[in-house]
Amino acid sequence: MDQTVSTVIDEDVCIGCGMCVKVCPVGTISMKEGRAAVTGKWSLNCGHCEAVCPVDAVRVMSLDKEQSAFGTFDADHRWLPHGEYDTVQLVRLMSSRRSCRNFKDEPVDRPLLEDLVKIGVTAPSGTNSQRWSFTILPTRHAVIGLAEKVGGFYLRLNRLAEKSWLRFLLRMVGKRDLEDYYHTYYEYVEEGLMEWKQKGRDRLFHGAHAAIVLGSKPGATLPKEDALLAAQNMLLAAHAMGLGTCLIGMAVEAMKRDRSIARFLGIPDKEQTFAIIALGLPDEEYQSTAGRKLVVPRYFEG
Ligand SMILES: Cc1cc2nc3c(=O)[nH]c(=O)nc-3n(C[C@H](O)[C@H](O)[C@H](O)COP(=O)(O)O)c2cc1C
Ligand code: SF4
Repeated sequence: MDQTVSTVIDEDVCIGCGMCVKVCPVGTISMKEGRAAVTGKWSLNCGHCEAVCPVDAVRVMSLDKEQSAFGTFDADHRWLPHGEYDTVQLVRLMSSRRSCRNFKDEPVDRPLLEDLVKIGVTAPSGTNSQRWSFTILPTRHAVIGLAEKVGGFYLRLNRLAEKSWLRFLLRMVGKRDLEDYYHTYYEYVEEGLMEWKQKGRDRLFHGAHAAIVLGSKPGATLPKEDALLAAQNMLLAAHAMGLGTCLIGMAVEAMKRDRSIARFLGIPDKEQTFAIIALGLPDEEYQSTAGRKLVVPRYFEG
């Protein structure tokens, strides 16, 4: 993880308010003779100091302004104070995002996909490591390429899982995975593979015309959490931008177990994959949002 200090303070502009010191989580900046000074040996490079300074005296050089410039809309970079956003509309967006299983047979504009990646990385990351990796599959052709690799993996797995003697032997040595897979997924996968072969029906990616594979490069402190937080940002934004989405866990599982699939996509062996988002123009509409099962939180009062 790169924690090199890249903070620069213009001493002549600083008015000594101390705000940058207050918001810095790791003490990169401290007050010296009434002015802010970079005194720490490391930095999260989170940019809190730059964003809080009332007189624009701070720059974090490792932050790239280009990363916050979008191709399909003009972003509003003013900070939104706590409590000022419309909660009703936010929750409406969150509940209106549904996993889409019917995509139109139409391409997705590449600038939308590139903007989604930029929106993904507005998410938090452990120690601000930002070691995300994104692989864009921009066409139906590319999605089918991945679907065929994943399909091949499940075909081989099903041929193994249908051998009752193998499941028995593995059970005897305490390995229940194949047995569990057989009872939970075997039939569903068998049907899906058959439908793909005979009718060309895509039950894996639901006919999506694009996909984004989210993973992490080495050096992240919490790689899975980082990738999934970015993914949720992207799911919500995609809905707002007119795209349908669906997380494809079946494909993630295949990529975890068969490294050749990641290599096929040009993903280096040292990267891990945690989420795949199928994307496309949605061919489904709902009358209302749906509820969720009842959740009863537990309290700990101390
Ligand atoms: C980690 C994860 C993996 C998923 N994998 C798949 C998948 O492989 N195929 C699919 O059609 N849906 C998949 N889904 C979508 C879930 O089935 C869906 O989120 C759930 O049914 C709730 O519906 P909603 O997303 O419309 O609210 C996945 C969801 C998550 C969170
Ligand atoms: S926030 Fe800006 S003005 Fe205030 S102490 Fe830091 S650099 Fe100086």
